[in-house]
Amino acid sequence: MSGRGRSPVCVGVEIAGSGSSLPARRVTNGDLVAMMDTSDEWIVQRTGIRERRIYDREKEGTADLAADAARKAIADAGLLPTDIDLVVVGTMTPDSPTPSVACVVADRIGAGKVGAFDVNGACCGFVFAINTAHDLINGGAYRNVVVAGADTITRFCDFSTAGRNVAVLFGDAAAAVVLRVSSDTSRGLLAQAMHSDGGGAKNLFVPGRKQDFPSNVEYDPKRINQIYMDGQAVFKFAVGTFSKLIEQTLERSGLKADEVDHYVCHQSNYRILDSARERFGLSPERLHVNIDRYGNTVGASVPLVFDELRKSGRVQPGQKVMFLAFGAGLTWGSSLWQL
Ligand code: COA
Repeated sequence: MSGRGRSPVCVGVEIAGSGSSLPARRVTNGDLVAMMDTSDEWIVQRTGIRERRIYDREKEGTADLAADAARKAIADAGLLPTDIDLVVVGTMTPDSPTPSVACVVADRIGAGKVGAFDVNGACCGFVFAINTAHDLINGGAYRNVVVAGADTITRFCDFSTAGRNVAVLFGDAAAAVVLRVSSDTSRGLLAQAMHSDGGGAKNLFVPGRKQDFPSNVEYDPKRINQIYMDGQAVFKFAVGTFSKLIEQTLERSGLKADEVDHYVCHQSNYRILDSARERFGLSPERLHVNIDRYGNTVGASVPLVFDELRKSGRVQPGQKVMFLAFGAGLTWGSSLWQL
């Protein structure tokens, strides 16, 4: 039975499984050179990205990738689709305004008539979704929840020289985890933070109409439905925000930086991640980077790193893991777990 009343007992929450799904088409920096005026050297030096996956618009969409990732996460958790009682998807690129990606996923995986909804937090979508899902389980209403991050952002990128400052950064993907109720009440969220600043939207947005262009950006009908980004403003925001967010989350949990085993960070630029590593003295083993292979995959970015760590055995029960993201909106958020 799904969505029953609040349980009087306090429960633990465990991350019981994970999975990811990538489009087959691999696009290297060399492939981009054939589409626009850029170079492998420029992209690698400024971002750390070497290749990304780009979805085939004719054959697949956000829901296809998300459903595939969800199926793998459920199998990894040793559960059946019918055990799932809620599906939450962090996405800013649903295939259409309605149905939500989560509704399609719930149906595709055979979860039955369970609760399903999307969370639009841009690159923070997964972090906002996992914080929400944790508290729905912790409150006693749900037992086994799929939380996915899924985006096909490249449909909003211009792969010509005019859009080169944005297009080289992004890739498409989905990744998911299964949260499960646990009798061990020490497992679950230790601290979290969720923030926004709509005033900063002018530095990173997708205009749908003429009115969506802020006063600092000249209206250009060719840029409708394409990402606009002031790269340097976003870079500054990200570097500053990352440090403050880690500090705030550690303070809320009462932990020191070296007591967290893994910092699972949104992959938007290698230099941004490196500045966080330096600031907190984190080794590459504790702040894993995979942007070289996938670029910035928006909501999928954080769970994609987590799935990679989990599959390679580097994430283990008993460890502490901090999920961190920032993105358009502007948004930023964290989720610190006792696994
Ligand atoms: N290939 C080659 N040259 C490029 C290029 C590309 N793909 N994109 C931009 N350039 C050029 C610019 O036209 C500019 O040329 P100019 O000096 O002749 O005017 C030059 O490179 C420098 O551009 P600039 O935008 O100042 O570069 P940068 O050092 O700020 O790096 C980003 C650009 C986008 C890599 C960087 O600003 C960044 O990573 N910002 C944060 C982005 C981010 O994280 N977004 C997602 C948030 S979730």
